[in-house]
Order: sequence, then C-alpha cells, then structure tokens
Amino acid sequence: MTKGLILSGGWGTRLRPLTCTIPKTLIPVGNKPVIERQMELLKSAGVKEIVLAVSVMSEYLKNYFGDGERLGIKIHYTNEQSPMGTAGALKLAEIFLKNDNFFMLNGDVILNFNFKEMLRVHENFEGIGTIASRQVEDPSRYGVLIIDEESQKILKFLEKDEFDSGEHGEGTMPVNAGVYILEPEVFSYIEPHRKLSIERDIFPKLAAAKNLHHYPITGIWKDIGKPYELLNGNILLMKDILEKSPNSENIIEKNVDIHDSVKIYPPVSIGENTVIRQDCSIGPDAVIGNNVYVEEGCSISESLIYDEVYISKNVMIKNAIIADNCLVRKRAKLEGNKENLVILADHVQINEEIKIIAPKDRSLTVCHHEVVKEDIE
Ligand code: GDD
Ligand code: MG
Repeated sequence: MTKGLILSGGWGTRLRPLTCTIPKTLIPVGNKPVIERQMELLKSAGVKEIVLAVSVMSEYLKNYFGDGERLGIKIHYTNEQSPMGTAGALKLAEIFLKNDNFFMLNGDVILNFNFKEMLRVHENFEGIGTIASRQVEDPSRYGVLIIDEESQKILKFLEKDEFDSGEHGEGTMPVNAGVYILEPEVFSYIEPHRKLSIERDIFPKLAAAKNLHHYPITGIWKDIGKPYELLNGNILLMKDILEKSPNSENIIEKNVDIHDSVKIYPPVSIGENTVIRQDCSIGPDAVIGNNVYVEEGCSISESLIYDEVYISKNVMIKNAIIADNCLVRKRAKLEGNKENLVILADHVQINEEIKIIAPKDRSLTVCHHEVVKEDIE
C-alpha cells in the first residue's frame, strides 16, 4: 500500500511573525491546518500511513497529531535534529518508505486534486518519479519544469533562481506543484548524513537520467509561503467551497450573530460563535474565524482574521492578517495593499485611533504580545 511523506520542517521565515509561535504547516486555512487538509486528501486516496518529516518546532506537530488516531491514519515522525534540506529529510524516512512507491508533499500547499489518478498515471510511466505540475504566469518563485510534450518526461528541473526566462522563453510555464510520487530507487540518489535539496541536488539528476515525468494538475493550488499567498489561499479555498454549494454566496458557520443592518459583500466566511454588531461592512474577501467579536461600525475587507479576536467600534481593516487573540481598539485603521499586508501576530493589542498603513513595497508586521501605542507607517 502506498504511503505518504509530508515535509514540515522548514523555518517558514517569509511568514514571520506568524511562524514565531506555530510551524508554517499548522497555520489554519479555512479553520484547519494546511497539512491536515493534505492528510485528509492522502487518506481519501487510500493512504493509511504517513511520515511527517519534522524539524523546526517538531513538538508542536507531535502534540497536535500524536499517532494520528484522531484522523484515522498512522503517523510516524522522523528524527531530524536540525533542518537537513528537503532530500536530507526524505533520506531520514527511508526506513519507513523503502518497500513501495510513496507520495511526497511540501506541507505548505493548499490543493485539491485526485491523488489516486496521479498514482494510476505514475504507475503507467517507467521512471523513478512523477511531479505534479501546474501552469503559472510568473514561474520565478517556483521550480520550473522543461518538458518533452510527447513523452511527458521532464528534461530539466530548474529550481527558482536557476531558471532564465531569456533562455527558455516567457509566458506561462509548468512549475513544480510540490507533490511527488517516488519509487524507492530514489534513495540510492541521496547520500546519507548530508544536507541536500531534492529540488537542486536530486531532481536535476533524475531528469538527466530521463527518470522523471510530470502530471499536470488543475483546481485550487496555492503555496502559503508568503503572507499575501496565505491570505489568497484562504480566499481561494472559500471560493472553491462556495462553487460546490451553488445556493450560498457566503460561508456562515453555526451560532453566528450578525445584526440585520450589517452589509455583507460576498464572498465572506464567518466562523462559529462570531458576533458582528450593527452598521458594519464585511467583505468582499473577508475570512473571519471562530469566537470573533466585531463591535458597531467596523469595515473589514480583503483580510484574514483568526480566532478569539476582539475588534472595537469603527475600526477599519483592509488587506490585513490578524492572528489569534488580538485586540484592536476603537477607530484604529489597519490597511495594507495587494501584496504588502498589515500582519498582527497573536495576542497583539492595537490602541485607540492607531493607524498602521503598509507602504507600497513591504508588509508591516507586529510581533506577538506587543501593544502598539503609536502609528506605524
Ligand atoms: N523536514 C524538513 N527539513 N522540511 C523542510 C526543510 C528541511 O530542511 N526545508 C524545507 N522544508 C519543507 C517546508 O516546511 C515546506 O513544507 C517544504 O519543505 C518546501 O519548502 P519551502 O521553503 O516552502 O519551499 P518553496 O515554497 O520556496 O519552494 C518549494 O515549493 C514550490 C511549490 O510550492 C519547491 O519545492 C519549489 O520547487 C516548488 O515550486
Ligand atoms: Mg513553500
């Protein structure tokens, strides 16, 4: 039976300060950790055993998932003292995976495609690995695949900075979606006890040996590595859920109390027990968690608000991410722009009338437990 390995040991530096207190893969997307969604997909494809390649903040993952009983899946953990790179981490899981082909996933991507079908296609190819590929307009932040259309073989694998659009042409390109099916032969390509990257050190060799194929995927797909991607991923997931339930414009969970005067601009998602008081304007593109309290006259759009957040009267929030247990006092204004957000880590307090406005070229972040008493611009 095919097993699964999920990489969950990176530092998540680009998501700081959100990743100062929680590993990146445990960050909830639509109220559930991104990695848990992946486990559910693997399970529905028949996978019964998963190895979590943990390193940074491994205790958090072990405490959250334990042996996997709650999810109905057996979970093993590798013992990676310090980050060994994506291939080094895989090598440490050899003992669990050496007998059969297996799925390998980057633990920070939101996706929803048929893993079973990918396995079927992989088993018809002759090779060591199949990489799920995705067409994107700007490949600069991904591993790029140069493909032979006839055989579906990957001729070259070029990780981020190795791709030169001058050499290979501009326009949409297939990139590495962060999901692989690998045969155990891959282990013979990875030297033990070394920090190695599967993208830089192993895939180029497998491609040169004509041992790699690709499998194009469609549907929802987002790497949540950067704050605006995390926000975007939540919005994409919300839209995906709404598309599948054609009678609803918004997701409103149990026990929500929204005053009749509130204007809702779809799509929005509002979690359990959340209260929205009179004359607020919510949406579009607002994802609000559980047990959030929003007082009168607030406006919230293009933002992600986690659980147990308290927002006082007449607060304006746009292009922001607000983590758990924050308190935003009266008439404060938090405003980012499309790629540069205002980000509050957990337990932040924003005092009355404070303005935090992100400039055009960078996000503004507030670390956990800080109390903001002066404007930040
Ligand atoms: N155990 C372990 N050890 N995990 C690691 C390590 C490590 O040393 N380094 C990174 N990871 C995990 C991260 O936690 C993440 O789940 C995954 O490996 C990928 O690392 P990222 O840091 O998120 O890489 P990226 O987003 O820049 O690029 C990767 O993903 C793209 C698709 O989303 C590459 O695989 C690209 O080729 C790909 O296109
Ligand atoms: Mg990533």
